[in-house]
Amino acid sequence: MNTVLIVDDERNYLLVLSELLSEEGYEVVTAEGGLRGLECIEESDFDVVITDMKMPGMDGMEFLERVKLRLPDTPVVMMTAFGSVEKAVEAMRKGAFDYILKPFKNEELKLTIVKAIDHYHLVRQNRQMARELQGKYHFGNIIGKSSKMQRIFELIEKVAPTKATVLITGDSGTGKELIARAIHYNSPRNEQPFISVNCGALPENLLESELFGHEKGAFSGAVNQRKGRFELAHEGTLFLDEISEMSFPLQVKLLRILQEMEFERVGGSHTLKVDVRMVAASNRNLKEEAANGRFRSDLYYRLNVVHVHLPSLKERKDDLPLLVNHFLAKYAKEAMRESIAMSSEAMGRILDYDWPGNVRELENVIERAIILSNGQQIEIKDLPNEVRDLTPPANALEPKQISGATLIPELSAGERLTDSGLKVRQMRAIEFIKINGFITNKYYSKLAEISERQALRELSELVEAGRLLRIGKGRACRYVQI
Ligand SMILES: Nc1ncnc2c1ncn2[C@@H]1O[C@H](COP(=O)(O)OP(=O)(O)OP(=O)(O)O)[C@@H](O)[C@H]1O
Ligand SMILES: [Mg+2]
Repeated sequence: MNTVLIVDDERNYLLVLSELLSEEGYEVVTAEGGLRGLECIEESDFDVVITDMKMPGMDGMEFLERVKLRLPDTPVVMMTAFGSVEKAVEAMRKGAFDYILKPFKNEELKLTIVKAIDHYHLVRQNRQMARELQGKYHFGNIIGKSSKMQRIFELIEKVAPTKATVLITGDSGTGKELIARAIHYNSPRNEQPFISVNCGALPENLLESELFGHEKGAFSGAVNQRKGRFELAHEGTLFLDEISEMSFPLQVKLLRILQEMEFERVGGSHTLKVDVRMVAASNRNLKEEAANGRFRSDLYYRLNVVHVHLPSLKERKDDLPLLVNHFLAKYAKEAMRESIAMSSEAMGRILDYDWPGNVRELENVIERAIILSNGQQIEIKDLPNEVRDLTPPANALEPKQISGATLIPELSAGERLTDSGLKVRQMRAIEFIKINGFITNKYYSKLAEISERQALRELSELVEAGRLLRIGKGRACRYVQI
């Protein structure tokens, strides 16, 4: 049962309010004046405190300050006479949860109390979570209390201090890069560089010189000698992301390095020796790729000394509340907002949703919700359609499968709608977002059949025009409706 403390100097008022709230199912304690109120607080805990502002002796303001010193989380609602709103505002600044103007309707009081108690419970829940986070439910900045994540933490703890090569697999957005960094920063190499290479981002010849460096004149454009990532990672860790995208000839070279830690720069004959710890990641099942001849099996076995497989978020839904709180705290701080909680209804939707984009998608959703919410609590309306309605947007992560023709018709680049000043395909993108919840730069370019650069320009125009909101950064960034 929720308990309410009512403080007022008028005994009749106490009687009336006490009766009203008892009928609502609260356990009510009344105190005549601030001093008596403080005594009550010493004796027991309350879910909400309601106090009159104007009282002889200790007035409501002083009482509020004393309560906040002792019980900083307990919500205090001020009752104040019409005409003293400034005082009420001052009280809010000093930490009051809310105020109601006397005379008030019973319903108004009841509603305020419900809100205050909900808030209190959420704050307490958040504190509990924060305590847990400081405990054992994290490894650096990686959050997870599920048994699957706990096992991964144990594994990293054991393997990080060694020089063993680690292969990290898992779907997109499950935290592979985060794990790779954690391995490095928990190793004796942590003061040396962590160098990352995305093997899927560069064509073969560029990737080769990126990895091994090149000598002056090795190919047209090689005007100077350049060190490769292997050299830069000397005594540190080299993270080879999206390793499955590496060409076969490069895989052979990599195999040699793994065996001998020796290589030559492109166009060079001098053999260089390095001391590098290797961590590789892939969102494909590398064993299967090797079995089907799409990846060299000898390299797979070399890389797979220690295997960390990250479960998808839907396989470890028990981590959701902790992750939600982690991102709430992170983005509230970034937005310079006070603590923001998730309403239980919104949390319900988050727990029911499948999270095809894993932790990255969750992070984006929370960042967006904080931008959209204007209270201290995130409601269902602040969540994107797909989470709200629990139907993942059609092929959210597989834009290739979306039939662009039906959603964004082909149009010439310059075509504009005169009334809104937007291009037809920009209007179509807005419609697309209405249906699917969001769009990415890549989708937009694919569906509208324009270059990614042009897509970025057109989406940025929509952001500048206040039509869309950009959530997230870099590759993971999505556009949603405001
Ligand atoms: N367990 C976790 N705790 C806290 N944050 C996490 C966790 N897992 C992932 N994240 C966050 O989610 C985002 C995506 O993680 P990361 O980039 O490591 O994923 P990834 O598996 O490398 O994805 P991709 O395959 O798309 O490159 C990052 O912002 C990361 O900080
Ligand atoms: Mg990654």
